[in-house]
Amino acid sequence: MSAHNTIAIIGGAGAMGGGLASAFLRAGRSVVIGSRDRARANAAASALAADTAHADVTGLSNLDAAKSAPEIVVLTVPYANHLNVLREIQPGLDNKILIDATVPLRPPKVARVQLPEKGSAAVEAQAFLGASVRVVSAFQNVSAEKLKTGAPNCDVLVAGDDVDARERVIALAQEAGMAAWHAGPLDNSAAAEALTSVLIHINKRYGATAGAGIRIVLD
Ligand SMILES: NC(=O)c1ccc[n+]([C@@H]2O[C@H](COP(=O)([O-])OP(=O)(O)OC[C@H]3O[C@@H](n4cnc5c(N)ncnc54)[C@H](OP(=O)(O)O)[C@@H]3O)[C@@H](O)[C@H]2O)c1
Repeated sequence: MSAHNTIAIIGGAGAMGGGLASAFLRAGRSVVIGSRDRARANAAASALAADTAHADVTGLSNLDAAKSAPEIVVLTVPYANHLNVLREIQPGLDNKILIDATVPLRPPKVARVQLPEKGSAAVEAQAFLGASVRVVSAFQNVSAEKLKTGAPNCDVLVAGDDVDARERVIALAQEAGMAAWHAGPLDNSAAAEALTSVLIHINKRYGATAGAGIRIVLD
């Protein structure tokens, strides 16, 4: 495995983490799947390897996965577990970029925008982790289903306070076949996180099987 190329996905045995892992593997990246349960991480890695030709993918505990990635760690866990998992992986995140794909959904009303007091899940992550971790928010508006089945025909909004970190995440999304846009400072993650509930509502209302997405139009 080329260590420099490696992306860790925390919660990677789940739907969204698995979708992103497929997309990154197809783009030629190495992926480490993180889970609370090492056996579950290994099983998810084996399934991804069977699905993707020449895939370089392994499974580890969440913390070991975070430690194994030299630059980029992706967080894909339900909002209810966001802070607990951040606490678990914090020792593996120093001087890295954390891509937070978390949407602060509060079941059962997931088609209703219910942002947290601090404004967004990504802002909460940055406040918890401090300045030694560059939090970048991305991928909230891309469905796991679209990611699994090929290059998604929708765009990615990328928000973060560090422009270089944002650039790297935009480049990663582009490598994985998506159009990605600078969406401004991390505070703007609130818009992307809120938009997901709107997309869930549209999915229900119009029956989008692979999930609705967004397109930015520049004229
Ligand atoms: N699904 C989508 O299409 C989509 C799209 C955009 C954004 N998102 C966001 O991505 C995140 C993950 O969504 P998902 O659909 O992938 O969720 P999921 O499949 O239900 O869960 C993802 C992973 O989170 C971990 N997890 C579950 N409960 C936990 C707990 N109590 N404590 C610690 N970890 C726990 C599990 O990993 P282990 O059990 O292996 O530890 C699980 O595989 C959410 O914030 C969601 O809003 C999802």
